[in-house]
Amino acid sequence: MILVKLGGSVITDKSEYRTFDAPGVAMLCREIKDSGKDVIVVHGAGSFGHIIAKEHGLADGYKDKSQIPAVAEVCRDVRELNGMVVSELISAGIPAVGVPPGSCFMMDDGVLSLGDAEVLRRFVDLGIMPVMFGDVVLDRKQGFGICSGDQVMERLCDLFPTESVVFVSDVDGLYSTNPKEDPDAVMYGVVTEDLLGNVESAMYVADVTGGVAGKMRSMLRMCAPGRDCHMINGKVPGRLLSLLRGEEVISTKAIGGD
Ligand code: IPE
Repeated sequence: MILVKLGGSVITDKSEYRTFDAPGVAMLCREIKDSGKDVIVVHGAGSFGHIIAKEHGLADGYKDKSQIPAVAEVCRDVRELNGMVVSELISAGIPAVGVPPGSCFMMDDGVLSLGDAEVLRRFVDLGIMPVMFGDVVLDRKQGFGICSGDQVMERLCDLFPTESVVFVSDVDGLYSTNPKEDPDAVMYGVVTEDLLGNVESAMYVADVTGGVAGKMRSMLRMCAPGRDCHMINGKVPGRLLSLLRGEEVISTKAIGGD
């Protein structure tokens, strides 16, 4: 199995509320189909999740009832986004169904638990891709919490034998500073725990799920012998397809877990 996370930065414009890049997502879905590989897609929330979640402090869990309407709005928005991603997958010829983590699973103090995940396994056995995403999820300790698509990826890795993990972003990989603002930003071909510790402070402003550093840390946790973990730029046509075919592409590869 190959797990592909379509980050919020590649499927939405993260700076503008509810902006979906339909042509971009259609291209990525076609590339997944053309690869012929067994893939499960997870996606981020982008501007369908982070903006309202930040405004109302949803990542800190339940504080007071003024947050509740915002919880419902984010749940609505990320489900609509999921519907659009699933439509693009189906149009590309991939049978897919949205499985909202917040409607099926729970968190314990910020950690998502997929239980025995029979639903997910049975969809996969039928040849249907279950598509989960960053969502607001009920939390036994905090009332609710924000579950990133990265956390979903980590749980899926435990459930399905995973040969490869791909984080699709809107930049070529991990940079020393924000490449959109700093022409001197240096891209790293490889990331390790040590390197991440050194560059983290210089990196982009964190969103509610920890920004690029959070994604990198997730990717490092998923590293295991015999499993490749890459971050690539999904705005470049053909890059995801090449990586899925096992070709050399511009990426940041996570090294760890041996
Ligand atoms: C964020 O999920 C979930 C919400 C804000 C509801 P992700 O952390 O996976 O989203 P992106 O990829 O950063 O947009």
